[in-house]
Amino acid sequence: ICESPLRTPECMSGGTICEATMMLQSSALLFTLLFAGCWAQDEADLVTSVPGLIGIPNFKHYSGYLQAGPGKYFHYWFVESQNNPSTDPLVLWLSGGPGCSSMEGLLAENGPFHLNDNGTVYLNPYSWNKLANMLYLESPAGVGFSYSISGNYQTSDPQVAEDNYKALQQFFSKFPSFASNNFYVFAESYGGVYAPSLSQLIISRSTNINFKGMGVGNGMTSYALNDQSLIYFGYYHGLFGDDVQLASWSQCLSWFLQVYSALYQIQDTGLNIYDLYGQCYGGVGSSARYAADVSNLFLAPLPSLPPQQEDTSIPGVPRCINGTAMYYWLNDPTVRAALHIPRSIQTWELCSSTVGSLYQRVYMDMSPFYQDLLQRNVTLLLYSGDVDMACNFIGSKWFVEALNQQVVSQYRPWFYNNQIAGYVEQYEHITFLTVKVKTVSLNEKVTLGTSGLLGGHGVFVLKTTGLTVSLTCYL
Ligand SMILES: *[C@@H]1O[C@H](CO)[C@@H](O)[C@H](O)[C@H]1NC(C)=O
Ligand SMILES: *[C@@H]1O[C@H](CO)[C@@H](O)[C@H](O)[C@H]1NC(C)=O
Ligand SMILES: *[C@@H]1O[C@H](CO)[C@@H](O)[C@H](O)[C@H]1NC(C)=O
Repeated sequence: ICESPLRTPECMSGGTICEATMMLQSSALLFTLLFAGCWAQDEADLVTSVPGLIGIPNFKHYSGYLQAGPGKYFHYWFVESQNNPSTDPLVLWLSGGPGCSSMEGLLAENGPFHLNDNGTVYLNPYSWNKLANMLYLESPAGVGFSYSISGNYQTSDPQVAEDNYKALQQFFSKFPSFASNNFYVFAESYGGVYAPSLSQLIISRSTNINFKGMGVGNGMTSYALNDQSLIYFGYYHGLFGDDVQLASWSQCLSWFLQVYSALYQIQDTGLNIYDLYGQCYGGVGSSARYAADVSNLFLAPLPSLPPQQEDTSIPGVPRCINGTAMYYWLNDPTVRAALHIPRSIQTWELCSSTVGSLYQRVYMDMSPFYQDLLQRNVTLLLYSGDVDMACNFIGSKWFVEALNQQVVSQYRPWFYNNQIAGYVEQYEHITFLTVKVKTVSLNEKVTLGTSGLLGGHGVFVLKTTGLTVSLTCYL
């Protein structure tokens, strides 16, 4: 008992309490009382079974709620490191949307538990918790199992940063022993907005968090750069015919209109915007996502579009993504019970259309946040799967270049299994890295996995020398 895996200060130093606990084991009531006093609240959140998993994980993990403001409760799933939890870094993971659940990160990307087609669970050999303690947070309220008592799910970029900050403070009061670990914020996709805004709050307010750095995978950095670069990406990947000519950039408006029509055509042909060379689950889809992208070129309303075709098989699943396995697993009553989700909580969805539609996007360009973090010498990483079109790598590259940092190491390949696995350019406090995903040998289950995002937008790579890479970008 005294060698508590929780390593709370009370247990570490509380020799007398622990001795007393052992002496009183026969008295169930007293034991329970002391047990509760000695073991922090987090013990109630300990997950003791993972339905569908064969075998027992060699790490502890917790699922429960963190209060993120009055009446707001964010679901978290915290998986301790498989290496050395007490000294390994602590990484907060935020998926994007806005409105999408970080459970996708845990169950289909960089997390330890992955799902088979038949609903069973296997341990992901490339899980980031081989090296780090990973905290997966479903944010904001209304996403996944997270909720607000008021039922008001309208929120905005600055409000999400505040709520995430509060949830994080709650995490550290539940798990005080992790306050001394090096702390990183990692996010993907629309998390490219969440991560820098939260990081800035942490660094400007917190003395109790050992904040070291931030990573963003295929992240939203700047709407303008993201969309303008997409034209180049599409053009040079052979997606446009003669109706798009890059040379006519100066003829701005008519060119933009051509591009708009071209991008619309792309979607109509059934491309998976998250993975150019991957399949589109469900086949040819609607143009909902591209309409949103291209409107950012103008930052103004666009001509009206034909009605969108809705895929209603499973709610809350972005176009071309197969979210079937996650949806059924997370909504299974035994899984919900194992994760301590009350029955009153809504059905889990990969992406909440309620949150997404009510969401107010405030930050159009994240560079002021990056500049602030750079001045404070925080270590930053932007990584991109190089066939994602939701947040394409060229936009991220342009974004990093525009930060005007001193180059430390020129653009060069990096390697995995004696193959070029991508490219990397290092600046003084920020690194830009691409992942040429298909050359990286991941196991077959991962390649054929439920998210099917390995080519572009949902890939993760684990290098034994450090944390690298995941990508997904729901805007
Ligand atoms: C979608 O995922 C489910 C569950 O993993 C699987 O059974 C099904 O074959 C997948 N469908 C396609 C078209 O990939
Ligand atoms: C479920 O699928 C996995 C992977 O294909 C397989 O190893 C396992 O035996 C299957 N389990 C059941 C109960 O069908
Ligand atoms: C950042 O590093 C530079 C040089 O390494 C140093 O001069 C500066 O004081 C540091 N800034 C902060 C906020 O630590």
